[in-house]
Amino acid sequence: MVPEDLLDRLSLDPQRQRRRLEFLEIGPRDEELLQEIREFGRAHVDEIVEDFYRHLQRFEETRQFLGGPDRVARLKQTQRAYFLRMLEGGFDSAYFESRLRVGDAHQRIDMPPEWYLGAFALYLRLLIQRLRMHYRHDPDHLCEIIQTLTKVIFLDASLAIDAYIAGGYVQRALAEQLAEMAEKATRALEEKAELERLKTDLTNMIVHDLKGPIGGILTVTQLALRKRGASEETHLKRFEQIQRSARDLLRMIENLLEIDQMESGRLELRVEAVEVEPLLQECAAEYRAAAEMAGQTLEVKVDGELPVLATDRWLLRRILNNLVVNAIRHSGSSATITLGAQPTENQLEIFVADTGRGIPLEEQAMLFQKNRRLPRGAHREDTGLGLVFCKMAAETMGGSIRLWSEPGVGTRFVVSLPIS
Ligand code: HEM
Repeated sequence: MVPEDLLDRLSLDPQRQRRRLEFLEIGPRDEELLQEIREFGRAHVDEIVEDFYRHLQRFEETRQFLGGPDRVARLKQTQRAYFLRMLEGGFDSAYFESRLRVGDAHQRIDMPPEWYLGAFALYLRLLIQRLRMHYRHDPDHLCEIIQTLTKVIFLDASLAIDAYIAGGYVQRALAEQLAEMAEKATRALEEKAELERLKTDLTNMIVHDLKGPIGGILTVTQLALRKRGASEETHLKRFEQIQRSARDLLRMIENLLEIDQMESGRLELRVEAVEVEPLLQECAAEYRAAAEMAGQTLEVKVDGELPVLATDRWLLRRILNNLVVNAIRHSGSSATITLGAQPTENQLEIFVADTGRGIPLEEQAMLFQKNRRLPRGAHREDTGLGLVFCKMAAETMGGSIRLWSEPGVGTRFVVSLPIS
């Protein structure tokens, strides 16, 4: 708004101006006293203005408004004029308007009112400090002068408040607070929506994973029931297939239950002495048939003697199962899958490597994340919750898991466990 309108906007006509002066009891005696100290004021205005800005420079909240030395020098000039005008008295419409204008200038630059009003008290203090010396032999008169100055400075402060209200500072500050609150609320809603989305993704992953083996069991059972007359060998093959699917199902359900237990810290390790090579052999024996059906070779490769680990045998076996199933699923036909282990200084590195199609770099980083998004439209046999399980289990056992993969060359998962 245009500052010229301020008097109108505030309906501060001469009648109201007079009422305000009456309320503050500003009258002819005050005009006399102001005239009396005018000379004194002129003599001290420069040092008062210096002290005023020294004080404003001391606080970050006010310093940030002042800018560089040139700007401060200009402000000192306007401040000097402001101060001298105060001692002139004659509180007419022009005076009211000039004070409203100054208030308006401050509200426009969004100066918080607490600093602006605080500076009026500073003015009074700086004046009293000097007047005390000057009138030290006449304390009653000093009191009278201080009263006058207090009234005039309060008049200015009241006009400053008017300018803040008329200039819209209060609405702006309120609007800012509201906008901040709205932003916080929006952020909270977005976070909630994200959480919901992750939950839905996870549920979809679980349902997707479980559908595979259940479908397998149903199909093969139906086949067996329909073709009752088939040879014993055919039946045996189907039962093996059913068993594999059921085992897959069990493995996935166990993954889910154990992920949940590990997340809530409820999983207790059953530590025992574990010989790793027989464990690798067991795992290979269990999955060799499945690998061969997929046209793959599954082998165990261990050089030299391995240290005995103090760890949870069952959990380690489950990590291996998941890594091997993962390799069978994703390495493609004719790949060779190798289970092995080799000791380093204080760790045993157990690996499951394949010569399959590899994993693209952009997928590698997300592979162990439970909350990753399913690639849209991606058609995969399973969503890889097994790898999430492997990472959590390796870490629960005090170890870690890492991955090396190159598209077209192969993939190698390495589980490092401490040698106690
Ligand atoms: C007793 C309190 C104060 C008085 C009497 C006062 C006086 C003035 C005057 C007369 C102006 C010129 C206004 C115009 O352009 O019409 C001004 C502007 C300004 N004052 Fe103050 N001031 C006070 C408090 C403060 C405080 C606490 C700060 C904090 C640093 C400050 C910073 C400024 C700034 C940055 C401007 C320039 C505004 C613009 O860019 O328009 N003032 N002041």
